[in-house]
Amino acid sequence: MGNKKTRVLDLKFDEKNDSHIIWNGQVVMSRSEADYFEKLFKKLKEIKIPALDTLEIGFGLGISAYLIQKELSPNTHEIIEIEKSIYNDLLIFSHEHPSIKPVLGDWRSLDLSERKYDFIFHDSYDYSGAEGWEFDSSKDDYETFKRLLKPGGYVCHPHFGDGPVREAKGFETIILERLVVDPILMWDKTICQDVAIVLRKPIG
Ligand SMILES: C[S@@+](CC[C@H](N)C(=O)[O-])C[C@H]1O[C@@H](n2cnc3c(N)ncnc32)[C@H](O)[C@@H]1O
Repeated sequence: MGNKKTRVLDLKFDEKNDSHIIWNGQVVMSRSEADYFEKLFKKLKEIKIPALDTLEIGFGLGISAYLIQKELSPNTHEIIEIEKSIYNDLLIFSHEHPSIKPVLGDWRSLDLSERKYDFIFHDSYDYSGAEGWEFDSSKDDYETFKRLLKPGGYVCHPHFGDGPVREAKGFETIILERLVVDPILMWDKTICQDVAIVLRKPIG
């Protein structure tokens, strides 16, 4: 993986501790998602999702990183994090998990290896308005994911609410399960309990 012109952010958080990360009045991540993620990764283990080579986008509080390690036992687990202090938490976390390779940067600006991953867990956050944040909307994330996945690989991301799951171009959308979980504090501080376990599988 190269990192020729990768971007990083050095943010001032309103609050950042083991239970939540708040930026600009918005909840970037909170431990209230733990029940949902526990159920999600147990389910992925149950269906034996291929995850030998895993890419995770966004470290946050490391809840999904911990559960990927615990439930999916990847051989390699690359985690990309754009924000410096969160990346520092990731570095500390990686000391206890030898299969983790921490990467600092904006995943969209990194030169990632093609056809390398069995499983991509995509859980980033839109820091629109932050100094240094640029979002290249001309690039389709799913076109990139298609290039990065090995044959038979999957993308997974959190889905909140009981509404429809949007389609992703070039991917089949599989809703494994809809469920009601412990109350989750959303980015705008509303509460959500309806979630889904969603997989995306490349077509063709
Ligand atoms: C919702 S949190 C991830 C939560 C994580 N799954 C957990 O279980 O704690 C989103 C994370 O993505 C990071 N992030 C946002 N945009 C990113 C980007 N373009 N590239 C890499 N990381 C990004 C944020 O700094 C934040 O740590």
